[in-house]
Amino acid sequence: MKNLLDIQNLKTYFYLEEQVLKAVDDVSFSIRTKEIVAIVGESGCGKSTVALSILNLISSPGKIVDGKINFNDVDILKLGNKQLRKIRGNDISMIFQEPLSCLNPTLTIGNQILEAIFTHKSTSKAQAYKDTIDMLKTVGLPDQERIFNTYPHQLSGGMQQRAMIAMALITKPQLLIADEPTTALDVTIQAQILSLLKTLQRKLNMSILLITHDLSIVAQVAQRIIVMYGGEIVEEADAKQVFVNPLHPYTEALLKSVPDFKKGKDKLEVIPGSVPNPAEFPTGCRFHPRCREADRICKKVKPGLFEVKKQHLVRCLKR
Ligand SMILES: Nc1ncnc2c1ncn2[C@@H]1O[C@H](COP(=O)(O)OP(=O)(O)OP(=O)(O)O)[C@@H](O)[C@H]1O
Ligand SMILES: [Mg+2]
Repeated sequence: MKNLLDIQNLKTYFYLEEQVLKAVDDVSFSIRTKEIVAIVGESGCGKSTVALSILNLISSPGKIVDGKINFNDVDILKLGNKQLRKIRGNDISMIFQEPLSCLNPTLTIGNQILEAIFTHKSTSKAQAYKDTIDMLKTVGLPDQERIFNTYPHQLSGGMQQRAMIAMALITKPQLLIADEPTTALDVTIQAQILSLLKTLQRKLNMSILLITHDLSIVAQVAQRIIVMYGGEIVEEADAKQVFVNPLHPYTEALLKSVPDFKKGKDKLEVIPGSVPNPAEFPTGCRFHPRCREADRICKKVKPGLFEVKKQHLVRCLKR
């Protein structure tokens, strides 16, 4: 299958007064047509910065300092604002953890979806209304005519999330970027939204980049998993491989900190130490201060990301 998105050697840094935060530090990966890829990793490892870079939405003090982001073989980083606006919200849509941060409180749900349609397509009012009602139904909202006329704050958290998904998908994007889309929701609603995303992926033939700090939610959804640590990819493989045969000590540690992942395990293991400061990464392997397998070499030599098994990449000197 063809690559829809291809990111090569992306570096996105934040230039603060006293220091430079290397939030994304030489990241390369791709997403194929109709593929669901997840990026996982602890807070601050650079997940959202990758997402915002894809839409070229990094603003000062942040800067994309290097790399290529090819979408349908066009380098997004070389496009002007007008061409970018055509892609954002149309070919690539994004949803976030907090629906209220992206829904307009002064517009009804229906009117904001209509606005999204008219921004990108020339459609008759009657057709746009029909498409909106259909989409509200597709995302599982009941009583669509009533929801159409409802304001965001009148909906529950789960319903707001569905409304935001409806708005993101109304233009039938080729890529949906979902940044922690279920983090603010309780567990049952979380599962519903994830299974909705999976159903919609098939229905609309789109690709999804799912970003989360929570490994347990990606198991049933993603086909491929990318694990990030300290601004870098440390492991990338087929989702099943990551769960059955994780190769990076960090991925192993992440898995052990997931509740219910291993049945009969009543004690969760916390990864010792804390995430590295992107202004001052450790020498050698960035994970070495927290790694139980680290030795002298790991402190000195920075490992590259290598394919150690078929389509299974890992950044570790011990593998
Ligand atoms: N606008 C900004 N200005 C300054 N620093 C930033 C900005 N955005 C992100 N950073 C820094 O870049 C690093 C990566 O942040 P990012 O938000 O990408 O992490 P994340 O993996 O999405 O974390 P989380 O799981 O908490 O959402 C962090 O050190 C963060 O403080
Ligand atoms: Mg984030």
